[in-house]
Amino acid sequence: MIIVFFYKFRIVYLEKKMLISINKKFKKIENRSKKSFYIPEKLKINNDDYVCNTNLKQLDEIPQGGFGIVIFYKKICISKDNDDNNNSIAVKFLNLSALREKGGNRKVKKAEFEIKILEMIKKKLNERCKKRLINYIGNYKFSKNNNDYLMIIIEKMDFDLKKFIQLEKSRNMEKIDLKIVKNIFYNVVIGLQCLHNMKIVYNDLKLENILINNNYDDEQRNVKIIDFNCIFRVDKISKVATGCSTRSYRSPEQIKEGKMNDFRIDSWQLGLILICLLTMNPNSFIRSLKELDEYKDVEINRLILDLKKKDLKREISKIKKLYKLNKYELINLKKLIYGLLRKDLSERYTINDILMNKFLFDDKIND
Ligand SMILES: Nc1ncnc2c1ncn2[C@@H]1O[C@H](COP(=O)(O)OP(=O)(O)OP(=O)(O)O)[C@@H](O)[C@H]1O
Ligand SMILES: [Mg+2]
Repeated sequence: MIIVFFYKFRIVYLEKKMLISINKKFKKIENRSKKSFYIPEKLKINNDDYVCNTNLKQLDEIPQGGFGIVIFYKKICISKDNDDNNNSIAVKFLNLSALREKGGNRKVKKAEFEIKILEMIKKKLNERCKKRLINYIGNYKFSKNNNDYLMIIIEKMDFDLKKFIQLEKSRNMEKIDLKIVKNIFYNVVIGLQCLHNMKIVYNDLKLENILINNNYDDEQRNVKIIDFNCIFRVDKISKVATGCSTRSYRSPEQIKEGKMNDFRIDSWQLGLILICLLTMNPNSFIRSLKELDEYKDVEINRLILDLKKKDLKREISKIKKLYKLNKYELINLKKLIYGLLRKDLSERYTINDILMNKFLFDDKIND
């Protein structure tokens, strides 16, 4: 048995205590753009606390982002105190060769930078922060059919906020419970605050990059930010190409000046997320400002630069009706949305301003 194990698994040491290995049986999977990915059928994770084997979960619905695919594995832990059997892991597969071909070494470096940030979060941040940022397990590189792959292994959550809104809609819910919205939003704000304290602007806030767990009865469900691919350090870069973040979530100064060195880029994106949640809109509402199926990039830019107070008013009045907000709630919500979606950067809310707004805190939120 043991001999078979060593024969079957290739082994890599990540750090002193963590050992990750894959077996040599691969499954071929195609992503949306018909690019093939080879994924190992099993992983083995071994650290001081546990030894876990993992098996592929169903492959019917594979989440895909701009770069790769995300595959879930079920954990079967075989020893040590920690009985972690009910958990699964998520593995983001990046085809480094394809990235290299498309964007040269710069794209590969970005993928590796994501790992650095995940490691930093794990090592340096306190529990309050870790609760809101995805838990990193490890990474592994392998080659198959002349392609280099990078696997980023993280804890699995149930789904992202876009899926959450779609599920709520399919349950015929006309709105998401206000306490749940506030809890989700608060957790994202604290997660961002933790990154900002490390001088990092997150820069890619959108429903797909915020994950939650599916504990329906629980107002205080787990909420975590994932996908640290677009981040930048405020003190290192002042201007870089804006091409990373998602267009309909970009802030006016990013579009106009390519400005990237301000935390309040994240505040703009938070404003859009808040409106998404309160109106149950699975996309940035910028997209619904014009009834076109396909937007050209230039048109989206123009919609953002032309955004009027009346556009925000319309969203706020929808929310007011839906939630039957009282006078005080409405005043606070208005302040928050106008504060987050100020076109003028110098007037836009910071994380501290958000945390002083009463809209979030008229219900108790557990920290
Ligand atoms: N830990 C996880 N648990 C559950 N689902 C996940 C997890 N990580 C990612 N996903 C799903 O996979 C999708 C894509 O993941 P992610 O955002 O990390 O990759 P990406 O968008 O391809 O990244 P990039 O911005 O680098 O292109 C997410 O929107 C989410 O639906
Ligand atoms: Mg993403």
